[in-house]
Amino acid sequence: MSRTIAILTGGGDCPGLNAVIRGVVRSAVLERRWRVVGIEDGFDGLVGDPRTRELTLESVRGILPRGGTILGTSNRGNPLSYPVEEGGKTRLVDISDQVVENFHKLGADALIAVGGDGTLKIARALQEKGIPMVGVPKTIDNDLRGTDVTFGYNTAVSIVTEALDRLHSTAESHHRAMVLEVMGRDAGWIALESGIAGSADAILIPEIPFDMGAVCQALDQRRQRGSKFSIVVVAEGAHPQDGDKVVQVSGVENLGVERLGGIGARVAERIGQCMRMETRVVVLGHVQRGGTPTHFDRILGSRFGVKAVELVEQERYGRMVSLQGRQVCDVDIVDAVDSLNRVDPDGDLVKTAEALGIMLGRARVS
Ligand code: F6P
Repeated sequence: MSRTIAILTGGGDCPGLNAVIRGVVRSAVLERRWRVVGIEDGFDGLVGDPRTRELTLESVRGILPRGGTILGTSNRGNPLSYPVEEGGKTRLVDISDQVVENFHKLGADALIAVGGDGTLKIARALQEKGIPMVGVPKTIDNDLRGTDVTFGYNTAVSIVTEALDRLHSTAESHHRAMVLEVMGRDAGWIALESGIAGSADAILIPEIPFDMGAVCQALDQRRQRGSKFSIVVVAEGAHPQDGDKVVQVSGVENLGVERLGGIGARVAERIGQCMRMETRVVVLGHVQRGGTPTHFDRILGSRFGVKAVELVEQERYGRMVSLQGRQVCDVDIVDAVDSLNRVDPDGDLVKTAEALGIMLGRARVS
């Protein structure tokens, strides 16, 4: 049976999105002779006059190594709470009926929504309003439940690990403490795994509120053992035991989404004071999300794209593709968006880091 499927990418961009799009188009067109319509800029592309384009084998040629998403994305276009300007003020309104109507005008049988927590929650709500939906999990933060890992995460960890290798040589030459602030608003996976791979001396993550005194003590002990430099990785969502996350732009000013940033500078300042040593801070920011995906993310994105088309063929809507162990399978979207996948402070990865002598922000009970 011939079908038309639509695909959109929502939320922050992420290496591997193009691999998913290509996987969807190639398996839909080559194996099934289906038609694929790309929706531009996430759910925003279904607001007002729909912005869509045909996706053919030609349009996905050469995109596998490319970062970002050829369809564009938006992390502000939540149709259930959409910002509308009125009399110089921004009001949030529910325009989901318009989005559902625009989707049906495309003549598509199903929608594949590729995104993180926010996008998949919207997908779930629109599914209930009548859009047959399949979800594909994406986020460099790896904080989505229902899958062992999301694509994009591997690339981000590789980029941060390389940055740590580079910071080591300059920190050592100048006898400095270098603090690297990385992404991870609710979950510290990027900081933790890159910190272990890049041989950091301290790693501060949102799941373990840190004790600055204990961090300084650990760095001081390291100095007494003869190491004149230190490397500290801090997730943007990390915070001290007696303080809050550092917010650059509040949710009130930014359509309900807090923009984090600045904890690295605070940690560097405190280390400078307590250790009486020169410190520098590096904020890696969106470098972690840009550029070419690793082979792992290209393959995972491709597998997810192919699996999403299979789910549409079987009309198994409301499902999200997922990696469990080495197997690509599917779960209920609800299971993925119910709660976040956060680092277990007593889990194996944290224990491994501590056994390696890395300070995780808390005094160790021996
Ligand atoms: O969710 C992925 C993420 O990279 C977070 O780690 C970070 O807080 C956020 O996106 C930044 O988003 P924006 O692109 O809006 O600055």
